[in-house]
Amino acid sequence: MKICIVGTGYVGLVSGVCYSEVGHYVTCVDKDMKKVDQLKQGRSPIYEPGIEELLVSNQQKGRLHFTDDLAEAMREAELIVIAVGTPANKDGSANLSFIEAVAKEIGTHLTSYKVIVTKSTVPVGTGQKIKSWIQDYCGKMAFDVASNPEFLREGSAIYDTMNMERAVLGVESKRAEDLLVELHRPFDTKIVITDLATSEMSKYASNAFLATKISFINEVANVCEQLDADVTKVAEVMGLDPRIGSAFLGAGIGYGGSCFPKDTQAFIQMGERAGYSLKIVPAVEKVNFEQRERLVQKVERAFGGAGLKGKQIAVLGLAFKPNTDDMRAAPARDIIPMLMTAGANVVAYDPIAMKEAASYLPHVTFSESWREAVCGADAVMFITDWKEFKDLNLKELKQELASPIVIDGRNLFEPQVMKDLGFYYDSIGRMK
Ligand code: UGA
Repeated sequence: MKICIVGTGYVGLVSGVCYSEVGHYVTCVDKDMKKVDQLKQGRSPIYEPGIEELLVSNQQKGRLHFTDDLAEAMREAELIVIAVGTPANKDGSANLSFIEAVAKEIGTHLTSYKVIVTKSTVPVGTGQKIKSWIQDYCGKMAFDVASNPEFLREGSAIYDTMNMERAVLGVESKRAEDLLVELHRPFDTKIVITDLATSEMSKYASNAFLATKISFINEVANVCEQLDADVTKVAEVMGLDPRIGSAFLGAGIGYGGSCFPKDTQAFIQMGERAGYSLKIVPAVEKVNFEQRERLVQKVERAFGGAGLKGKQIAVLGLAFKPNTDDMRAAPARDIIPMLMTAGANVVAYDPIAMKEAASYLPHVTFSESWREAVCGADAVMFITDWKEFKDLNLKELKQELASPIVIDGRNLFEPQVMKDLGFYYDSIGRMK
């Protein structure tokens, strides 16, 4: 199948690479010529395990192309995938200006029947808007719009796409349905066929539910701390019930990233506009933010309430999660300024996100290694659950620190082991 993908961000690029890997012919369009050149050379603008190998091999096989010319790219395509960004407006709602511009451009260049499918996360009703934006520009040319939201995670995007457990197809015609089923045939996945609005809603509902699981287990953790129970065991027990499931019950410092914070906000706005005020999702957001504050309170408590003025705090981990350099809505961006406002000096280290972090955290000192960051520090805080941190030599860590205080926002270590090694160790929802 011949496919044109508009937008080479996370969703567009990963989809393009994976569609070509399973045998489709894909042309990815981006108006940023520098990005297009970089991609042609097989270099990925995003950090994602496995992406560059596929970028190179599929270009060599002639199944993957990059261009800044949308008219040319869509001429031969049967399917056009819209995967441009939907940043948040000031009020939290999704900004559709990129989608609108692309839809109008598609309308202008439409010379034969095509299915235009949206992969970007868009509020319910956007598919219908896209239809009318295209209609305004395409004259009498026939086309169909469809919705096919993306469920991949950063850091495992290629794996998630190649092994997708479901594909939601929001369609308005059999012709569009058949084409999208054909697109997904090589993926061996469960296909759910529905209407546009239901498909669009399924993405918000899924992300908001996962965010809810995280805030829920964080609240359980906070009560566990008061009552000397262990949240990791509680989560294990809960997760063994297939009705609950074990995923996303990892207590910590709350979710970050480019999706959950933005999508929960947009969901709330969407409800308001539709005349229904969501109650659970705003609470999920509140718990999420307070979880960051609680971590700072933990380090303050470790110093006996004497304040953080002049204390040197090593922060290990900056990215919103491991295996990415993405700093969007990363908990570190809330936690580090709180520490600095309280008078602490922060020395930070992240295996790959430091370059990205520097623009958001201008007053932080960055170190070349975790050892350098913790050397002489009064306390260390773990913010991202990188494997490098889970595996670090705890005896060495103790030697490097000026005082053996460890505040663990990701439950990386065993409390008893830390106690036996002589650390002051505080984590999330477990004994101190
Ligand atoms: C999320 C969803 O998992 C994807 O299904 C979805 O497609 C994507 O958003 C999107 O809308 O594009 P992502 O933001 O890449 O993916 O990252 P996740 O792995 O879901 O992690 C999100 C945040 O939740 C991270 O900060 C992570 O540390 C946190 N988290 C996750 C927890 O605090 N506890 C957990 O148990 C799991």
